Amino acid sequence: MTKFVGVLTSGGDCPGLNAAIRGVGKAALGFYGMQVIGFLDGFRGFMENRTMELDGETMSGILTQGGTILGTSRDKPHRMPVGGKVIDVTDVIVDNYHKHHLDVLVCLGGGGTQKNAHRLAQRGLNIITMPKTIDNDVILTDVTFGFDTALSVATEAIDRLHSTAHSHHRIIVVEIMGNKVGWLALGAGIAGGADAILIPEIPYDVESIADAIRSRSHRGKRFSLVAVAEGAISKQDVQAMRAAEEKVAKTKSRGAQVNAEAELTHLEAQHAGNTMRLAKQLEKLTGLESRVTILGYLQRGGTPSAADRLLATRLGTACADLINKSRYGVMVAARADVTKPVPLEDVARKLKFVPPDHPWVGTARRVGTCLGD
Ligand code: F6P
Repeated sequence: MTKFVGVLTSGGDCPGLNAAIRGVGKAALGFYGMQVIGFLDGFRGFMENRTMELDGETMSGILTQGGTILGTSRDKPHRMPVGGKVIDVTDVIVDNYHKHHLDVLVCLGGGGTQKNAHRLAQRGLNIITMPKTIDNDVILTDVTFGFDTALSVATEAIDRLHSTAHSHHRIIVVEIMGNKVGWLALGAGIAGGADAILIPEIPYDVESIADAIRSRSHRGKRFSLVAVAEGAISKQDVQAMRAAEEKVAKTKSRGAQVNAEAELTHLEAQHAGNTMRLAKQLEKLTGLESRVTILGYLQRGGTPSAADRLLATRLGTACADLINKSRYGVMVAARADVTKPVPLEDVARKLKFVPPDHPWVGTARRVGTCLGD
């Protein structure tokens, strides 16, 4: 019996998605003789029945392309904005799965996608996922595809910023993606030789970063590079947010609660502009001029590195092998040289944070990098 395979990409895009689509698609189609169909724009396109045939022609030449030929979105089946309202469209998605006579739906995505995919598996659909994200924060896999490319982009940016910071005797604060986890900032910071690296997992003290910069100045190095993850947070802000959250939880009267919530929203908004604030603080404390570079979506765009193409192709073909064995409800993980199916319930709702005793953290400390603590 020919198997029918659906494929979608969901969440933020990243380099290597097309290589993964091609990996699973070519192996399913050519090696196993299955039928493959792509759904556009993540779970939204699945709900709206928008499809693309994945055949020899559509999958040709995509290995090296960035982004995803299927398009993506951050829409979730159980909370989808439709016609000005947010509704649960899981039933429509389950119906469409059966209308297309799918044997399996392959979902390529990061943490959010693993969660949504797990919910669909609990509704009885056959699901397999693959771990993609430049953040590298999916658990039970050594690495996610997209990370290696973003690491190179961020490292090259730090390299380039060094010469201009040096020439102008400035502090350059470079913001690197990673809202909740700091793998990318830590990796690129080490590879690019940043003088300070700030990640969400290690709250920082601005005085200790200023000390490190001042001590460099005393040694004749009148410039510094600070690699800061998007979600890095100061010790002070951690305390203020905790206090505000506690206040919101404990406050009884409605009026007081509104005030407490407003305080929390204000703190969150202030935190969103944290990198600019940090640069100004460092300028004031050290007397050195500061500048900010936010790398943003540059880190997600463009052609995947050789390592990401290889990883995505390995995971994609391993996914087709699992479909052939009817092994569903799993994420295809990378473990050293092999791939391994891990149960979706073990992956969903969990993030892979940088442990404070991780070897990369120790490495950064040993070469004299300030981690802000
Ligand atoms: O995909 C993960 C990520 O790159 C995070 O590091 C970042 O916070 C987020 O995407 C931003 O993506 P978007 O603006 O597309 O929601």
